[in-house]
Order: sequence, then structure tokens, then C-alpha cells
Amino acid sequence: MSTPTTTADAAVPLHDAPDHETQAWWRDAVTYQVYIRSFADGSGDGIGDIAGLRSRLGYLADLGVDAIWINPWYPSPMADGGYDVADYRAIEPVFGTLAEADGLIADAHDLGLRVMLDIVPNHTSDRHEWFQAALAAGPGSPERARYHFRDGTGPNGDQPPNNWHSLFGGRAWTRVTDPDGRPGQWYLHLFAAEQPDLNWTNPQVRREFEAVLRFWFDRGVDGFRIDVAHALAKKADLPDLAQPLPADESNPEPDHPYWNRSAVHDIYRGWREVADSYDPPRAFVAEAWVRDPERLALYVRPDELHTTFNFPFLQAPWRAADMHAAIDSTMAALAAVGAPATWVLSNHDVARQVSRYARVQGEVPGFNLDDLAGLPADLEVGHRRARAAAMLMLALPGGAYLYQGEELGLPEVEDLPDEVLADPTWTRSHNTRRGRDGCRVPIPWSGKTAPFGFSSMGAEAAWLPQPATFGQHAVAVLDQQPDSILNLYRRALRIRRQHPALGDGELEWLDSPRDTLMFIRRPDFRCVVNFGADPIRLPLDGTIILASTDVPDETLPPDTCAWLVP
Ligand code: GLC
Repeated sequence: MSTPTTTADAAVPLHDAPDHETQAWWRDAVTYQVYIRSFADGSGDGIGDIAGLRSRLGYLADLGVDAIWINPWYPSPMADGGYDVADYRAIEPVFGTLAEADGLIADAHDLGLRVMLDIVPNHTSDRHEWFQAALAAGPGSPERARYHFRDGTGPNGDQPPNNWHSLFGGRAWTRVTDPDGRPGQWYLHLFAAEQPDLNWTNPQVRREFEAVLRFWFDRGVDGFRIDVAHALAKKADLPDLAQPLPADESNPEPDHPYWNRSAVHDIYRGWREVADSYDPPRAFVAEAWVRDPERLALYVRPDELHTTFNFPFLQAPWRAADMHAAIDSTMAALAAVGAPATWVLSNHDVARQVSRYARVQGEVPGFNLDDLAGLPADLEVGHRRARAAAMLMLALPGGAYLYQGEELGLPEVEDLPDEVLADPTWTRSHNTRRGRDGCRVPIPWSGKTAPFGFSSMGAEAAWLPQPATFGQHAVAVLDQQPDSILNLYRRALRIRRQHPALGDGELEWLDSPRDTLMFIRRPDFRCVVNFGADPIRLPLDGTIILASTDVPDETLPPDTCAWLVP
């Protein structure tokens, strides 16, 4: 018997919708990440925008997600793809207007989609009015006290105040020129020089961000993703690091002077009060790269944030033992504080999973293109594993995030020409690290040539060039293939929405053969994954309702996930 991936949805019983219809929708929502610049271009300038996104909301509702998260859409000089915000209460003109944003929120709500925005509290743009005022006001001023300004060290103060490095390369300090033209103080930036770090011990900073949250909550926004949520609190006096190069962000030593300091938690308790003052309450998801599950769980205690991305899962090699460990340790730590897990396989900062899983697993030193480049890749294997990984993720208890294009099976674009690279990593590393543009290439919708329907108004080229191979991943092409990855995601999301065992809840592992994982979700749902190199005899009874590849004669091929009901 061959069980096609297009198995009968009829086998899935229909039940009342679970949490996604309730106030605790965030406990099991599937949220689709929209990298707005690269999603859909409605104006024809080759850059994605709100008009484009509005025109494609039907696609997202039909895909079966519960919410969208939109990467920063505020006015920005785009030194770091919009993570350099010049005004937190307005819309970048390239993306549209505030009126269009209001229209988008209303349209999304009409389709039953919740809307999360991205808030960037660790730093502003150097064009933000606060930073401009700080430059003008001079040393010792209240304006400078909202950032981290320090005198330099060494003769004439021409050495930076400490030995910290920017995450994008180079040092974490830039010296300003005073109004009289003389070299002045230095300011801290953990990221690009255009992203000065805010001083979160300053009460004005706290008040301002709580007001920004209210500004958007008042417009109907359902929640926020919090950018580098684990970096806001800095150790007093900004001491030198013993090891000056950027520490592994997700695994720093305790008492690291900027990663994951306990003072961040008080900030988020304040934010929770703001979110809870709304009806319905608004929700948060933290971007906190914190490897230790117990320390990550501190962010989602009952009076803090609602959810936090599970990056250990994203970082785990495609191997049964690693995946098992990442899932178990997360679930145990989060259960202790009553929070749901939030699974994610990719985002705009990491190489796409097809390309990560295309490499020999466990030997890749990281999850960025710069870690993968040069290692042999088998994209077919990567694609097969990405299909299985998506089904595994969507069967786990809790919520999940999808990054635009993963449902199209897009690979990382590894050969963008040097001259188009926009990630500040490229220039700040003196052209030694190519950075994150390869996962930010505009997604293909239709047609045989670039821009593959990305620009509806006939623009000739998208802001990053799409490879010719993107044509075979276009939505219009995958629509027509019953077993395409897009149709697999649609089916999995539909089953997930209908089956009472899926979403929030518990998981029970079953003993399973080597290189496989097997678990039950009650009632009546089973998931099995074969991570090994060899096919195995299906180790579970039941009817397959969905499988990531064909399951011929009860034999589960390598890199395959199957969902079963009794
Ligand atoms: C987060 C964002 C990333 C950005 C950085 C600085 O990690 O996801 O894209 O470069 O913060 O804001």
C-alpha cells in the first residue's frame, strides 16, 4: 500500500476550535512572519509594502495561519533592514502610510488574522530625534543620558571606553564630532554604528516605550515581537569583557555585561501591565537568544511576557537525539512557569532550513550562511527534511512561527553578488561575512521570470535579485502540485486547527527505534519521524492522515514524518 502525502482530511474529526478563538490565542497560534520588504510589492518600486501585503492577506488566511508578525515598518534609514527606527509612531514612506497600516490591521482582523508588530527597544536609529538631540546637547546633558555616552580612554580620549565589539563586526563604540568640529565622546552600539543603544536605567526610556506600545495597541495591534529582548539591561559602569569578541549570544557566562541580565525582567513586568490593561489583553513574544532553558523560562513567568522563541530547537541538528533534547528541555522548563512553547525553524536572521538541513548534520558550526558556505549541500535532502521538520514542529505542544517562503521550500540564496548585499554585517566585517541577505530575497508568487509576481505593478527587478530557480517555488506553481510543500503546509495547518489533540497541551514520548522519534498527543494523535538514513517499518498502528513523503507498504522512508490516528 502506498500512502500519498495527500491523505484524506476526512479522517480528522471536527471539534470546537481550541485556544486560538479565546483570549489565550497566543498559547497555540501559528504566526506567519512577514519580512515586509520582501513579501509583496504593491507600488511597483521593487520593494515590498503594505499595499502588497494587503493584497495577499487572502493567501495567508487560506494557508491557515492564525496571526502575522510584521518586521519593522517604521521610518528608517535602513542601515539594518528597518531595525534602526527613526520614529516609532509612524510608517516608513517606502512601505506606505499610517492610514494604510490601519487598513491592513482592519483587513487582517476581518479575515480572522491577528497582527503582531516588531518593537526595537535596545537601540534607536542615529536619525531618531532623541539621538540628534543628544549629539546637539553635549556631554553630561539629560539628552545624552538616554543613551550610553562615555569619554574615551587613552591619551586625548581617542580609545573606546571599553573592549566590547559590535555583533556585526568592528568595535561597539563610535566617537562623535562635537558641534565645534572637535572629536567628542563615544557612544555604545552593540549592532551597527547607526543603532545607538538606549540606556534602560533612564526612566524616560521606560515611559517612552510603554507609550509606544499603547500607541499601537490603541490602533488594534494584537501584540509585539520584542527585538533582542535579552540585551536591554547593561551592567553598571560597562566593564571590559574578559573575552572581548562577541560572546556566543545565546550561551554567555552568567553576569555577562549585556546578555541576559536579570534587570530586563522588571522592564517586561511593566510591559505586561500595559498589555493586560487592554481588552482583549495584548501579547508578546521575546526574541531572546538564551540557550539555558531555565533562564529562558524566566522571561515567560506569569507576570512577564507571554511567549519566547525557542531557538535551541532551530539550532538543533536534524538528528533524533538533538531534537529530542531540545524539545524536552524546553517543555520541562516552560511547564515549570506555566508558559507554552513557541517553536520556530527559521527567520530573517538565519539561513533557510532547506539549506541548513542540506548539510551533514552536527558538523555545521552555526546557523548562518557564513557558517554553511563551503560545506557540500544536497538540497533535495534539505527539502525532504524541511518538510518533515515542519510537520514535527506543527505537532508539538504550543505555538509556532513560520517565516515567509518556508512554505514554498525556498533555499537560502547563497550566491548574491557582492554589490547587492545590504546586511551591515558585510561592510562591518570588511567584506569577510556575507550576512543574512540570502534568506531575505523577495518571494516568488507567479510567472516564469523575475520578479515572479512579487511586484504587481510591473517593476522589472526586486530589491534583491531572485535566482531563476525561484520560479519553480512560485505559489502559482506549487498550488498546482497536489504534493507540493505548500499544499503540505496547508494540510498540516488545517489538521492542526481541527484536531483536538494539537496546539496547546502535553506530549508523551513512546519508545521508538534508533534514529526515530515517536510521540502521542491525547486524544488520538500520533507523530513519528525517521531521522535515520534507512527506511524503517512503520512502528505505530493507525491510519496515516498526513505524511511528509510517500509511505509505501508501511515503510517510513528516511527524513520523513507521519501523523496517524487510531
Ligand atoms: C534582531 C533582529 C535582527 C537585527 C538585530 C538588531 O536580532 O532580528 O535582524 O539586526 O536584532 O536590531
